[in-house]
Amino acid sequence: MDNTLIVFASDHGTVEKCARELFSLMNGKVDLCNLNQRETLPELSTYDTIIVGGSIHSGKIQESIATFCDEHFELLATKRLGLFVNCLYTGEKAQKQLDDAFPGLLSQQAIIRDYFGGEVDELKLSFWERMITKQMIEKDDLVVALSKEKIERFADIISTAYEPKNT
Ligand SMILES: Cc1cc2nc3c(=O)[nH]c(=O)nc-3n(C[C@H](O)[C@H](O)[C@H](O)COP(=O)(O)O)c2cc1C
Repeated sequence: MDNTLIVFASDHGTVEKCARELFSLMNGKVDLCNLNQRETLPELSTYDTIIVGGSIHSGKIQESIATFCDEHFELLATKRLGLFVNCLYTGEKAQKQLDDAFPGLLSQQAIIRDYFGGEVDELKLSFWERMITKQMIEKDDLVVALSKEKIERFADIISTAYEPKNT
């Protein structure tokens, strides 16, 4: 049976929402690991599939996700891997942010990588965060939205054609 871990970090709840959506859409046994709420990790070697997700702030993925990928690089490279980010940009800019978010070899190794869009909940943001996101949205005329289709496609691709790795 497929055995999946979704490791994520979420500043204001969007990545967590996407991780939970993937959790509900995926087959087999699925565990969630919120890096912001855990001091210890589950035993990564026991999972066949690992999904890593974070959000982009000022062009970069959260430090906790970058550190997780660096510290567990070798083990992650042996897994069926899915990578996603939440961000407000779309198109080439979003693709570049996604490319820069994870180590190149993990990106190459991933069965699927995607950006799911983003959200801005003004009630959860600080004054400065509101200013930054307002400027981004106005300057680039961004449409703030999450793509349910992309999340469903991601879950579908990583759930199907499951073949355990011999490592
Ligand atoms: C201070 C700040 C900076 C951000 N910078 C970027 C950025 O550089 N590029 C981008 O596409 N989205 C950017 N975003 C949008 C976030 O990626 C988006 O709001 C996402 O949904 C946040 O998810 P989270 O709350 O789960 O961390 C920024 C958001 C904030 C609050």
